[in-house]
Amino acid sequence: MPETSRRPVAIESVLAEYGRLVENALDRYLPPEDAPPADVHRAMRYSVFAGGKRLRPILVIAAAEVAGAPPEAVLPSACAVELIHTYSLIHDDLPSMDDSAVRRGRPTCHVVFGEALAVLAGDALHAHAFELLARNADARGCTPARVLRSVRELTAGIGSEGMVGGQVLDLLAAGAASPAHPGEPDARPWNGGGPEAAVREIHRLKTGALIRASLRIGAVLAGAAEDDVRALDRYGESLGLAFQIVDDILDVVGESGKLGKGTGGDARHFKVTFPGIVGLERSRRLAEEATRDAVRALAPLGARGARLDELARYLLERDR
Ligand code: IPE
Ligand code: IPE
Ligand code: MG
Ligand code: MG
Ligand code: MG
Repeated sequence: MPETSRRPVAIESVLAEYGRLVENALDRYLPPEDAPPADVHRAMRYSVFAGGKRLRPILVIAAAEVAGAPPEAVLPSACAVELIHTYSLIHDDLPSMDDSAVRRGRPTCHVVFGEALAVLAGDALHAHAFELLARNADARGCTPARVLRSVRELTAGIGSEGMVGGQVLDLLAAGAASPAHPGEPDARPWNGGGPEAAVREIHRLKTGALIRASLRIGAVLAGAAEDDVRALDRYGESLGLAFQIVDDILDVVGESGKLGKGTGGDARHFKVTFPGIVGLERSRRLAEEATRDAVRALAPLGARGARLDELARYLLERDR
């Protein structure tokens, strides 16, 4: 069998195996649906168990694997980043943000449970994430110092200088680009840089920061050498860019049935995206380039980086 047709099968089965581990662990860690107040637990579980790709927890596990640790050594923290990611999606979909009606193949959390419960379900997932990071201290071989470091990695990745900061820039850029709210040049987040630099910065923060944090957390908890953490961080930076460029492309050319979310929303909401700024063809080339950069960043890891190499190539070709 030629190598190109063998590769996706191998990585797909790894993703399925890690995905199952994460799925089962999430079910154990989250409060049951009927625990009071049941409304919020129902909303949390509704959004978490709606069939996401589980990319970020898989990155935690794969990074730990690079440092020689088994999935069990990082499973609570892997689930923590998935809870953060799910909270970010619930809030991202709110009418005051991207106003999206479908997510992970279902009506969005606020459509089913109302806006107030959707906000609160997101808040609760955010809180539970930190409980799970702390719980990682119970894993065999894990030291309190590693757990503390993982807390710093996550807070840096998701705060105002990470994911939330990126979401803010995303909204400001859309506002400035909208004819209904013509932005003063000074109000534009790309003030000084130009639109391509701006969209890179938005993507680096809103998507790249949590992806990088996931890799760093997996590595740190597994006791990786600092050189390895740096290599994984560089991989994550390029992977995050490639991932969000592909997300932007799929919003234009993807099938909503496969994606599990609506398409065309970026253009409707004047989002500043790669296809919008450089066109589909150049966006595709830039996603390929970022994927190459990601793979190149793995070089110092030698054979230990093989799985992450496959994962980056696989994600470039995704349709969901
Ligand atoms: C969607 O993330 C939001 C982005 C940062 C692009 P995913 O494409 O990983 O969504 P799920 O988790 O599979 O639903
Ligand atoms: C979402 O980016 C990024 C975060 C949730 C932090 P998008 O707004 O492009 O994600 P989708 O397309 O709604 O999944
Ligand atoms: Mg958004
Ligand atoms: Mg969105
Ligand atoms: Mg998108």
